[in-house]
Amino acid sequence: MLRSVRVRAPRTRILEDAVIIPVFSGARTLPPAAARADRTLEGMAAALFADAFAGRRGETRTACVRRARRLLRVVLVGLGPRAARTPEALADAAGAAARALRGRVASAALLLDDAVEAATSAEADAILHALLKGFALASYSVSGQPGDTPTVRRLVVVTSRSQRSLAPVIRRARLVCDLIVRVRDWVNAPANRLTPSAFAEASRELCVASGVMCRVWNRKEIEKARMGAVLAVAVGSREEPRFLVMQYNMERPDLPLVCLAGKGVTFDSGGISIKPWEKMHEMKGDMAGGAAVVAAMAACASMKLPMRVVGLVPCVENMLGGGSLRPGDVVETCTGKTIEILTTDAEGRLILADAVAYAHAHYKPDVIVDIATLTGSVLIALGTRIAGIVGTSARHARALEEAGRRSGEPVWTLPLDEYFSAMIKGDISDYKNYGGRNASAITAGAMIGVFAQSTPWVHVDIAGTAWNDGGGPAYQTPGATGYGVDLLLRFLEGLAGAS
Ligand code: BES
Ligand code: ZN
Ligand code: MN
Repeated sequence: MLRSVRVRAPRTRILEDAVIIPVFSGARTLPPAAARADRTLEGMAAALFADAFAGRRGETRTACVRRARRLLRVVLVGLGPRAARTPEALADAAGAAARALRGRVASAALLLDDAVEAATSAEADAILHALLKGFALASYSVSGQPGDTPTVRRLVVVTSRSQRSLAPVIRRARLVCDLIVRVRDWVNAPANRLTPSAFAEASRELCVASGVMCRVWNRKEIEKARMGAVLAVAVGSREEPRFLVMQYNMERPDLPLVCLAGKGVTFDSGGISIKPWEKMHEMKGDMAGGAAVVAAMAACASMKLPMRVVGLVPCVENMLGGGSLRPGDVVETCTGKTIEILTTDAEGRLILADAVAYAHAHYKPDVIVDIATLTGSVLIALGTRIAGIVGTSARHARALEEAGRRSGEPVWTLPLDEYFSAMIKGDISDYKNYGGRNASAITAGAMIGVFAQSTPWVHVDIAGTAWNDGGGPAYQTPGATGYGVDLLLRFLEGLAGAS
């Protein structure tokens, strides 16, 4: 992984092993900074550019120039059309550059000129963030795997902007990338290693290191809180449930308060309503929402955001056995409201019902955001690049959309009103945990939302975006994507007025 990122002014020699030259498509000439640098590159950049280089997003051309006793690699990377320079597109291009260098060099210089200097400084910051994020994350490999190819460790950003003005962007990008790597490691971890208690312990360690107060409840404490829905999902597994309560800045009652709740199902077999085998192994990643919440807590503490944040993550394993929850059972949540189980595979909404109810009753926050790999339905509706959201607060939904655009982790708001909540009204209980196939990503969210009661609430369904089956952008690797960390942090920064 990337170890250091520094800034250097142009017009000096390239001392690194490689130089990366980003180019928008449709450019008729090399960007000026690249043309200047090319005087010491034996004209290689111009030659690569002339060789039918179109600048399509992620297109790369590489050549070597001899430099004293070593080789200097020149990499042209296409950014795609200037008008389409979204954070995802830029991160994808930077990821392609990182891949072109993978296993070959230890250090690289990134030449930024018209990509950055033509924009306003806020826009330039966003571009640099996306490039750094894409570059760093493309080099991810499941930690500790043998056969890891060495990747670029030192990156130097060559720009006329000052080290001082870029330091906060670089610091934030590195923090976000480190946390995304952490989340990817957790989500990729096999469920026999990352059990509910192991996940809770790892989360606690990250919290302690980041200055987040963290309590880990055991089964007794979950029972004391009367979280019957969390317990019902956990009952079929030999693994003990846990409930994470994380707090940041709670000694500042003058500041706004946000509650984040994340689905922490370390493995989802479906329970008695067992899933088909083909993709069941991917259900080791069913705690991706919970992991994003833990990482977001660590991020806002590291950045000392002027706000209060509480993170709640129920950690359970959804298994089958002689003691399991059955279809037809009725469970009682911590509010006393009851839910009839139509399928034990709709377990995420059960544990989040208790978590969100607890957030409302115990903290009375300004807003509750829950994030979960909740439904296959959202994957069918929106695919793997955009998460689905529903909520009761249009203002916060819009804030999440804006955070999605800026972070390159986009979301799309689905409708939610009485029509959908009516679909989950219970017959022999207050609610049922399945409202039929129609609009099932929405009704799943609606079931969580009723437990937020009067507290403004937004739900983010990341079942499509948390996992890359292959074919994702270059900054993703197969498996966990780490989606949600940058999104939640941007959202929190927006609310804190710090962005
Ligand atoms: N964890 C799954 C949702 C999921 C599906 C995540 C695909 C990632 C990829 C969730 O618990 C689930 O099983 N949902 C069911 C609900 C249904 C049985 C009502 C679904 O969406 O199929
Ligand atoms: Zn699940
Ligand atoms: Mn399930």
